[in-house]
Amino acid sequence: MSKQELTPEHLLRIIFDYTAKIANERNLNDVLVHMADMGREMIVADRCTVWLIDEQNHQLYTTVAHGVDEIRIPYGTGFVGSSIVSGEPIIIKDAYEDDRHNAENDRKTGYRTKSIITVPFRNNDGHMIGAYQAINKLTAIGHFTPRDLELLSLAASYAGKSLESVMLHQEIIDTQREIISKMGEVGEIRSQETANHVKRVAEYSYVLAIALGMSAADSELLRTASPMHDIGKVAIPDAVLNKPGKLTPEEYEIIKSHTAIGHRLLRGSKRELLHAASIVAEQHHEKWDGTGYPNGRKGEDIHIYGRITAVADVFDALSTERVYKAAWPLEKIESFFREQSGRHFDPAVVEVFFGQLPKLIAIRDSLLDFEDDSV
Ligand SMILES: [Fe+2]
Ligand SMILES: [Fe+2]
Repeated sequence: MSKQELTPEHLLRIIFDYTAKIANERNLNDVLVHMADMGREMIVADRCTVWLIDEQNHQLYTTVAHGVDEIRIPYGTGFVGSSIVSGEPIIIKDAYEDDRHNAENDRKTGYRTKSIITVPFRNNDGHMIGAYQAINKLTAIGHFTPRDLELLSLAASYAGKSLESVMLHQEIIDTQREIISKMGEVGEIRSQETANHVKRVAEYSYVLAIALGMSAADSELLRTASPMHDIGKVAIPDAVLNKPGKLTPEEYEIIKSHTAIGHRLLRGSKRELLHAASIVAEQHHEKWDGTGYPNGRKGEDIHIYGRITAVADVFDALSTERVYKAAWPLEKIESFFREQSGRHFDPAVVEVFFGQLPKLIAIRDSLLDFEDDSV
């Protein structure tokens, strides 16, 4: 049964509700989903998507549902692509009568695309940033009209300001993360760790934090901060850091000082990210039973960020190959963590570690180090 067009009162309510929701949203994916929902309800469509332009990679990307990964298509492809390239909206009564329609997707999903509307939109400077695309009009008329075009343009302009500021915010976050990851690599590379080590530790820490029930924001903060755990190694002399063979007790003390040095480098910042990184740098070698360093903190006196990074860091050290050692077999790693639960590691973190192990291994396999046989 077909639906009715909205009354003006209903339309206004949708606009108020969604623009308020969008204005409060800091997460880009969620803004895209809210905008899509707003567009779909305003023009009574079955599906609606908001696409953005990724100029760097020459792609269009979107998120279709909360928590679902991004979808990407090459710039210029499909109705949405050609609409963005031309800067003109497209209204199609039946997609199957147009060559630009890719019927393959319908065949795969069993969904029947009929009517389509795409409306490109610009930012405040007049720069094209993306497009609305809606599929299948649900009212009796069965196709989209110039009024729908007007409404989607309206939706884009209402949400545009928030969208832009969230995109900018996201850009800052991404830049911060990249710089921090690079700084972390500097610390690791001096001790013959690989660049991917810090990336893997970041992802493991995030998965463990979420599984422990930490908020998405705190987990994200840890993900960004944990690559800095060994930043203090920049101040450890090479002769000690990379000494072949056994270290003297004095040399071992020097190595251990990378925790306090990292903490000193990062502490005192008002930025929550650097503050989190200072905690991780200081506490990632503390042990649950109080036998770790630098302060011999015990149990929950060790910050949860430190306890999580400890598990992530050790897991990565054991589960990947290094210049000086092979990766441990999985059974050996499992019995090690079982044995160290309540000694080296927080038992609660070890428990979620086992629960998340398949995910952690998938991360490891997707971020394996590039091996160069020529050297
Ligand atoms: Fe360390
Ligand atoms: Fe490490």
